[in-house]
Amino acid sequence: KNPVGAPDPDVARPVRRIGIAGAGLMASQLALLFARRMQVPVVMRDLDDVRADRGLQFVADEVQKLVTKGRLAAAEGNRIRSLVTSTTELADLSGADLVIEAVFEELEVKRHVFAELETVLSPETILATNTSALSVSAMAAGLQHPERVVGLHFFNPVAQMPLVEVVRAAHTDDGAYATAFAVTAACRKSAVAVADAPGFVVNRLLVRLLGEVLGSLEDGTDIATADRALWPLGLPMGPFQLLQLVGPAVAGHVLDTLRENLGSRYPTSPGLQAMITDGARFVEFESRPSAASPVDTSIAR
Ligand code: 3HC
Repeated sequence: KNPVGAPDPDVARPVRRIGIAGAGLMASQLALLFARRMQVPVVMRDLDDVRADRGLQFVADEVQKLVTKGRLAAAEGNRIRSLVTSTTELADLSGADLVIEAVFEELEVKRHVFAELETVLSPETILATNTSALSVSAMAAGLQHPERVVGLHFFNPVAQMPLVEVVRAAHTDDGAYATAFAVTAACRKSAVAVADAPGFVVNRLLVRLLGEVLGSLEDGTDIATADRALWPLGLPMGPFQLLQLVGPAVAGHVLDTLRENLGSRYPTSPGLQAMITDGARFVEFESRPSAASPVDTSIAR
C-alpha cells in the first residue's frame, strides 16, 4: 500500500452528518465550513456548556458577518446556523458518519477522545483527526477499529486556507481515506496526501521557520521589527503575527512533537515559552501591505 497514494473515489462513503469533538478555535471554524459547504447537520461536543455555547456563538457571529458583507443571503445564513448545534453529551455524536476531533494537541488526550467515541459510534463511522503534528497511527493504536482513523489537517483561518493535509495511518482503510478526500473536495479545499510523519509537511517547515525567527528575537531583535523584516519574502503575514493567529501554545506543542521525533533541529525556544506564559509580550501587528499596495522596495533601489 502506498501510504501517500491517490484515493479510490468509488469507495468514498456518504457523509450525511458530521460530529466534531471540541468546540474551540478550530472546531467551531470547522463546524461552519462543513455546514456551509456540505449542507449537512454538524454537532460539536465539548466538556461544558460554556465552551459548547461559545463554539455555537462563534458560528452565529461568523454567519452574521458573511450576511452583513453580502457574501451570504440572509436565508442561507439562517439555514447554516440551523445546521450547527453544540452539546456536552457524547451520545449526541452517535448518528454521525464522520467525527473529526479538534481537541487539545496532546496524544493521550486525543487517544482518550477516540476511545470514548468508539463507545457511542457505529463501527462504520470515520474518525478523523485535525492534529497539527502528532502521529495518526499512534492515535489509532489500541482502538477496536483503527482502520476508520484518518488525518484531516485543516489550517487556520479555516475559511481562508485552501489546503488540507490528508494522512493515511498504518491501518487506515480505503473507504476512510477516500472519504477524507471527498470531504475536502466538498469543502472546496485542495487535499495533499502526506505521510504520517511528525508535523506532516507544512508544520515541519513552518515550525522550523518560526524557530529561526524566534532565535532572532533571542538575539535581541524586537518582535514587531522581526515580523516586518520578513514582509518582502512575500509571506501573507509576518511570522509573529502568524504565531499569534495559530496560538503560541499550539505552536509549542508542535515544536515539542518535532523535537521529540526529529531532534535538535527544533530546539526549545525561551522566546516562545515567554509568549505562552506571558501573553503581554504580544504586540499589535501591522498587517503586511496587500498586493494592491505592494511592499515599498524603493529604499533598496
Ligand atoms: N480569521 C478568520 N478570517 C480572517 C482572519 C482570521 N484571523 N484574518 C482575515 N480573515 C479574513 C477576512 O475577514 C477577509 O474575509 P473576506 O474576504 O470575507 O472579507 C479575508 O480573510 C481576507 O482578509 P484581509 O483582506 O484582511 O487580509 P489578507 O488578504 O491579509 O488575508 C489571511 C488574511 C487569509 C489570514 C492571510 O493573512 C494569510 O493567509 N495568512 C497566513 C495564514 C496561515 O499561514 N495559516 C496557516 C497557519 S498554520 C496552521 O494553521 C497549522 C496548525 O496545525 C498549527
